[in-house]
Amino acid sequence: MTSMHLIPEKQAAEQEWVRESRFGQWFQTTNIWYDYVLSEAIFDFKQLLGKNVSGTRQLLDIGCHQGLAFQLLEEHFAPKTIIGVDIDGEQINLAIEAGTRCQCQVKCEQGTVYKLDLPDNSIDLIFCHQLLHHLSAQTRGLDELYRVLAPGGVLLLGESCRSFLDLFWVRLLFRHPKQIQKTAHEFVELVKSRGFHISDEEIKSSIPWWSQKDLGVTEKIGWPRKQQEPTEVLMVARKPKLGCSGD
Ligand SMILES: C[S@@+](CC[C@H](N)C(=O)[O-])C[C@H]1O[C@@H](n2cnc3c(N)ncnc32)[C@H](O)[C@@H]1O
Repeated sequence: MTSMHLIPEKQAAEQEWVRESRFGQWFQTTNIWYDYVLSEAIFDFKQLLGKNVSGTRQLLDIGCHQGLAFQLLEEHFAPKTIIGVDIDGEQINLAIEAGTRCQCQVKCEQGTVYKLDLPDNSIDLIFCHQLLHHLSAQTRGLDELYRVLAPGGVLLLGESCRSFLDLFWVRLLFRHPKQIQKTAHEFVELVKSRGFHISDEEIKSSIPWWSQKDLGVTEKIGWPRKQQEPTEVLMVARKPKLGCSGD
């Protein structure tokens, strides 16, 4: 679907959307992104979850870009259906193509996290990777994910933190709204404040080499690393089961 055919709601969402820079879009198609950012995040999520994940029927990949995660998600979580949603129509066309390489059913749609075309409580697992820091209304996006997630369902949320997004070269090459960026701790608190439950054992904050000021050179040559503040955070956030406060 091209933006020319968007219904008014989607047009409104597009107007409040800050499109990633061309460099940023290209970077997300490189092996560095695939191997060190995306694949590692999915591997880490699997580790964080351990055995605490039951049969996944409907998996939503929100902000799916070109669908590069589809095959990895299929391999690790064996869903019956993957639903890929992204606001960028150009990327969705490539995601549709990526979906044809999966064994499971894959449905892709151009849409916004602020208003998903999905019923309440219909999704078992949401993969939301590197989307939130692009949103000017993060709370609204999280509330919509909460709405579509089934009670007992899981949100896998991976984000870049302020300490990374504020680096000079990141600001120069990529594009995100500036004022709403958060620390790892602030992201966890934000997600909890929307009703999700997160246990400390299911949070991983880190400073991977590609997110360091000097791209990990200092560390590689054995000098002590000065940077302490996490640049990346992954968390497993659960929507409580009905009748269960979880406290
Ligand atoms: C940094 S990319 C991450 C892509 C993918 N999740 C990954 O990890 O490789 C962020 C994606 O979010 C999409 N996006 C931005 N705002 C959105 C919104 N309001 N609703 C849905 N997708 C959005 C962008 O078009 C982009 O494809």
